[in-house]
Amino acid sequence: MIIRKAELLITAAKKEQYPITVVPEIAFSGKSNVGKSSMINAMLNRKKLARTSGSPGKTQTINFYNINDQFNFVDLPGYGYAKVSKQKKDKWGEMLEIYLKGRNQLKEIVLLIDIRHEPGINDQQMYEWIKSYNFTGYVIATKADKLSRSQQIKCISVIKKCLDIKDSSLILPFSATSKAGVEDVWGLFENILGLEAE
Ligand code: GTP
Ligand code: MG
Repeated sequence: MIIRKAELLITAAKKEQYPITVVPEIAFSGKSNVGKSSMINAMLNRKKLARTSGSPGKTQTINFYNINDQFNFVDLPGYGYAKVSKQKKDKWGEMLEIYLKGRNQLKEIVLLIDIRHEPGINDQQMYEWIKSYNFTGYVIATKADKLSRSQQIKCISVIKKCLDIKDSSLILPFSATSKAGVEDVWGLFENILGLEAE
């Protein structure tokens, strides 16, 4: 994929702020700190387009990015951040549900899981939720640079088991740091978006 243009369209806290576009969209979900914003930057080869942070809870709004005027990436706020109040958690669920329900151009919502961590109850629920909306259920195993190749294989099988994934092609290792997996994920995204490889 040749990135000719990558820009933040809007950081949306409510539905009225979602950009009115017809281009297809891919959304990134997952626990806080798993690397959603970093993945967006790595895919687009931009260091600081999406704001990242060492402490969880950085992205709190739904952030829409326009790429090449062809499609959007959507950075979702992370879940499972312990310090967040019950009220904020409810708001998060509500915000996400409104987005998932009403967004016709949303082609896929991918779930990011830290490759080193066994998925937790929140991850399992998110995965079930994604599938209940009839999305395929692709999982990106992030921070793969932290493990050796053989450790990666072991950890991927743990994630598969925990999320009850039978089809190995649904889970892809990725690293925003080393850029491992960028090409494979673009291949997947081009398919999802119905775009020709460039
Ligand atoms: P929230 O916005 O809080 O939901 O987090 P997020 O999922 O957007 O995570 P973010 O991209 O901000 O990354 C969190 C931390 O993980 C940062 O310190 C990143 O530098 C680090 N990180 C992200 N991706 C990778 C990776 O592939 N490898 C390594 N080693 N660190 C990573
Ligand atoms: Mg983020």
